[in-house]
Amino acid sequence: MKLTIKKLDKCIGAEIQGVNLASPINNEIFGQVNDAFHSYSVLVFRDQDINDEQHISFSRRFGPLESSMVNDPSGGGGPINRLSNVDEEGEIIPPEDRRMVYYSGNMLWHSDSSYKKVPARASLLFAIEVPPEGGETEYASMKAAYAGLPDKKKADMEGLFAEHSLAHSRSLIDPDLMNQAFQDEVPPIPQVLVRTIPETGEKTLFVGVHASHIIGWPVEKGRALLEELLSWTTQRKFVYRHQWRPKDLVMWDNRCCLHRGRPWNGAEYPRVMRRTTIAGEGPTI
Ligand code: OGA
Ligand code: MN
Repeated sequence: MKLTIKKLDKCIGAEIQGVNLASPINNEIFGQVNDAFHSYSVLVFRDQDINDEQHISFSRRFGPLESSMVNDPSGGGGPINRLSNVDEEGEIIPPEDRRMVYYSGNMLWHSDSSYKKVPARASLLFAIEVPPEGGETEYASMKAAYAGLPDKKKADMEGLFAEHSLAHSRSLIDPDLMNQAFQDEVPPIPQVLVRTIPETGEKTLFVGVHASHIIGWPVEKGRALLEELLSWTTQRKFVYRHQWRPKDLVMWDNRCCLHRGRPWNGAEYPRVMRRTTIAGEGPTI
């Protein structure tokens, strides 16, 4: 069986048609999906009727899963992150609730778990309930962004390391969002600024909001470079915007793209998603 692969944007994203993720997929189909993952960085599967178990089984085909952080309000240590503005009683959690303020960090451009020693390989986000407008997710190609840089800039970046820190990125929203136990769970760590993807040999610009400064540089100078690179990477021409429908599963390569959620009227409309995260192959250093 051959899958239908429809390119979504000039440089990032493809929709995969002809696969039902509720059943185990054979090696041939898996091979086609995996190739598309390497080519397009973001894969969209529409109309998938999957429960947690099926979501987890499909994710595991790509490698071991990360456990969510114990202190993360959407986590709790298991393989599933629940991103939702609806509580157990079915009531909307107001946007000013601390949990929602914490999630609002997802609206800043980032790569999942880039603040961990072994940053995540991929994430699979499934939509259960989505608002009538807003609440999209955008993806920016770090591959196309790197490829588009002038050679001089590429050469200047060789050998640089950025410090990534969740405490840093969340402090941009509110310095008191993470308590000490949470900060201790995820201490700052160094990552290469330019990554090479082992399967394809392609290079990507590993930036995002968790990247706080360049190691060995004055903080302000490093921050200025990281901000410049982030604006470069997130230019419209490198971005695919996903408009969610219920039962969409979107899988993305955290090594090759950044993503961010977009706002919606969260006081009025539920947005209920769940995510698995595939662990990376090793540290970038
Ligand atoms: C995530 C994330 C953004 C969104 O699940 O990792 O950043 O739009 N989500 O929900
Ligand atoms: Mn994310």
